[in-house]
Amino acid sequence: MNYSHEPVLLKETLTNLIYDKSGSYLDCTFGLGGHSKKILENLNSDGSLYSIDKDKEVKHYANLIKDERFNFQTSTFSNISSLFSKKTMNGVLFDLGVSSLQLDKPERGFSFMREGELDMRFDNSSGMSAKEWINTASEKELADVFYFLGEERKSRQYAKKIIQARKDTNISSTKNLAELFKPKGFQKKHPATNIFRGIRILINNEFEELKKGLISAIKVLKDRGILAVISFHSAEDRIVKNFFKKDYKIFFEGINLKNVNKIKPSKEEKLTNPRSRSAILRIGEIEYVS
Ligand SMILES: C[S@@+](CC[C@H](N)C(=O)[O-])C[C@H]1O[C@@H](n2cnc3c(N)ncnc32)[C@H](O)[C@@H]1O
Repeated sequence: MNYSHEPVLLKETLTNLIYDKSGSYLDCTFGLGGHSKKILENLNSDGSLYSIDKDKEVKHYANLIKDERFNFQTSTFSNISSLFSKKTMNGVLFDLGVSSLQLDKPERGFSFMREGELDMRFDNSSGMSAKEWINTASEKELADVFYFLGEERKSRQYAKKIIQARKDTNISSTKNLAELFKPKGFQKKHPATNIFRGIRILINNEFEELKKGLISAIKVLKDRGILAVISFHSAEDRIVKNFFKKDYKIFFEGINLKNVNKIKPSKEEKLTNPRSRSAILRIGEIEYVS
């Protein structure tokens, strides 16, 4: 199967991120390379792009890019500052969430629309899978994850449902889990949406990784460097918004994040790329003041 990922807020990202076509840029979320390929197209012959992704399957797609200016490593946000030297990047991009490669492959277990083993790990070679977690977590743990990470208002009710279902059988596939939350008639949003998202965030430790990634990004950015982050839901965006506004000050003295901007997709993009509907791009410029 040919996987393709329509990059979100592409034009807006390129316009705001690339201010020096001969500079060095870092894409922390290569995915299927949608943003990376376009960044390369926009750089001069002496510019360079470094990309990373935690998902080991991604390397295959990165290797298809034959360009001396491009360098890929399988790694995570929390490793950025050990992979790259301080103050070397002109721009750093995070396009958060799941790629089509992960979502469209049933066996990765990310989507309630596709029957597959409940896995949900970005790096499926290590750590606990969603299947292991959902079959062992306590009722309180389940409810907390659904509420705090999935922002699900019926978290307690849904946790009870899972504990009840576990008495009869293991929940081992996406279908087993989704069927517990069948829509009643027409519902704009499938009732399992928040449950799946909450579990995915937990399994991949996404919020901690994001916080560490943002701190590391500042370390590797040069004076005037641009930090660009695309988020897809309110809990994720809250972390990014607070970081741009004030949280970076906890970790850095003598640095300002200025010209902070928030950009949403156009009506046209929302129509042609439904995945962009909830996207928010936040941009800021690093200023060394001492
Ligand atoms: C939305 S996709 C990126 C899509 C990409 N911009 C494109 O246009 O093809 C997000 C990617 O980030 C990766 N990712 C998520 N968390 C990560 C982390 N902590 N470290 C490295 N990569 C991560 C996922 O594996 C996924 O491939």
